[in-house]
Amino acid sequence: SPLADFIVVANRLPVDLEEAEDGTQRWRHSPGGLVSALEPFLRARRGAWVGWPGVADVDVEPFEAADKYLHPVSLSSAEFRDYYEGFSNATLWPLYHDVVAPPVFDRSWWESYVRVNHRFAESCAEVAAEGATVWIQDYQLQLVPAMLRDLRPDLRIGFFLHIPFPPVELFMQLPWRTEIVRGLLGADLVGFHRPGGAQNFLWLARRLAGFEPSRGSVGVRNRPGVVQVGDRPVRVGAFPISIDATGFDALARSRETQARAKEIRAELGNPRRIMLGVDRLDYTKGIDVRLHAFGELLKEGRLDAEDTVMIQLATPSRERVEHYKKMREEIEREVGRINGQFSRVGRPAVHYMHSSVERTELAAFYCAADVMVVTPVRDGMNLVCKEYAACRHDLGGALVLSEFAGAAAELTSAFLVNPHDLDGVKNSLVAALNVDPTEGRRRMRALRRQVLTHDVDRWARSFLEALGTQLTP
Ligand code: UDP
Ligand code: G6P
Repeated sequence: SPLADFIVVANRLPVDLEEAEDGTQRWRHSPGGLVSALEPFLRARRGAWVGWPGVADVDVEPFEAADKYLHPVSLSSAEFRDYYEGFSNATLWPLYHDVVAPPVFDRSWWESYVRVNHRFAESCAEVAAEGATVWIQDYQLQLVPAMLRDLRPDLRIGFFLHIPFPPVELFMQLPWRTEIVRGLLGADLVGFHRPGGAQNFLWLARRLAGFEPSRGSVGVRNRPGVVQVGDRPVRVGAFPISIDATGFDALARSRETQARAKEIRAELGNPRRIMLGVDRLDYTKGIDVRLHAFGELLKEGRLDAEDTVMIQLATPSRERVEHYKKMREEIEREVGRINGQFSRVGRPAVHYMHSSVERTELAAFYCAADVMVVTPVRDGMNLVCKEYAACRHDLGGALVLSEFAGAAAELTSAFLVNPHDLDGVKNSLVAALNVDPTEGRRRMRALRRQVLTHDVDRWARSFLEALGTQLTP
């Protein structure tokens, strides 16, 4: 494949290699919001994507798929354990999500993180044309900006963090905090979802790396501040990510999706009201919170399982990591408890699926749901709630949304809840289920206006514009 002018680097490729028990392989859409957001943008521009193919110990040659050049970076099973499950997902993930689980600090995991980040930097350096733009994604690759700059000073380098950037006092716990800050400062532009994250990072750049922010605050969306690193300015700002809003809108309007939504309701026995949760099975998502709320409402007789059901789609995620295992057990026990108490034969109260579905099927679920329940205790953005709004051209449905999701700053017409306040969550569920139709439409119209005017294309353009990259349309 030719050298590329525009390259996305992420831990994962947009497709995931799946190996069946009989050894046959196939490619599937990768899980998570990062891929959902960047895939449509890159597809339209025939860029290159450097990333891991999703299974350890395989070597895959570069290939072309869905109008993109894919450059696989392989991981050994030890690296999968130490760099991916360990440092990325048992150290950084919980630390950056307000330590909702205790982060583990392990020196050999860190060493693996450094080695793997270096391999990603080398891969980019091989693929990039002279003067190319390289856009590095997320917490798994925070050392790549500085490593890549060492290898290829001619490149324009952007970095975007898809998860929250933590409060300063939590970040300071990290034994390798200075290395991480210096790694990120290798970029020309460092982007976060929220101005608060950018502010925290600027403070740390001064405190830990000794670089002075030279201009402006970062309070204004898309107007980055600047840190002067030697003679090189590094811009720092907030760029809230979004979705392919018109794509979801069109999908939801299609006859197939509408028919499938009806069919889903019928398969459920045409209950009067359906509540829906869609998440990776992650302890940050507050799946337990909404189950507890639903269970108590049934117990108190404020809801009736005869006419109100809950669907929870839980995408398998990071299944060998300790806290994920624990959360899965807890959730499945709670589903069992609620169903044991409130289901009739053929009429479960909670429909729980530990699997993932395609975008088309997901759109049908969104259209079928009267209330979408999104209750993370911490989430960088959360795209699922934006997708729900984009799918409700009928102005039906209601959104219950945690204040601790980045999306809450934009989706202020949702029923906003504090997931730590169980009574508050219960009251909001009841309010959303019983919202007066005029009020419900008013809220949904406002949500849709926000999502449709701030789509992923706008996000990517504003980031790349701030990076100084000229885009061909
Ligand atoms: N998703 C999907 N199939 C599923 C469940 C989720 O394609 O069965 C997609 C969903 O459309 C969304 C993404 O996964 O784009 C999840 O992104 P989000 O930001 O909500 O959470 P993340 O998983 O990135 O933490
Ligand atoms: C979140 C992260 C992504 C990650 C995705 C799926 O969206 O921000 O970087 O790819 O979750 O998680 P996984 O560990 O399966 O890649």
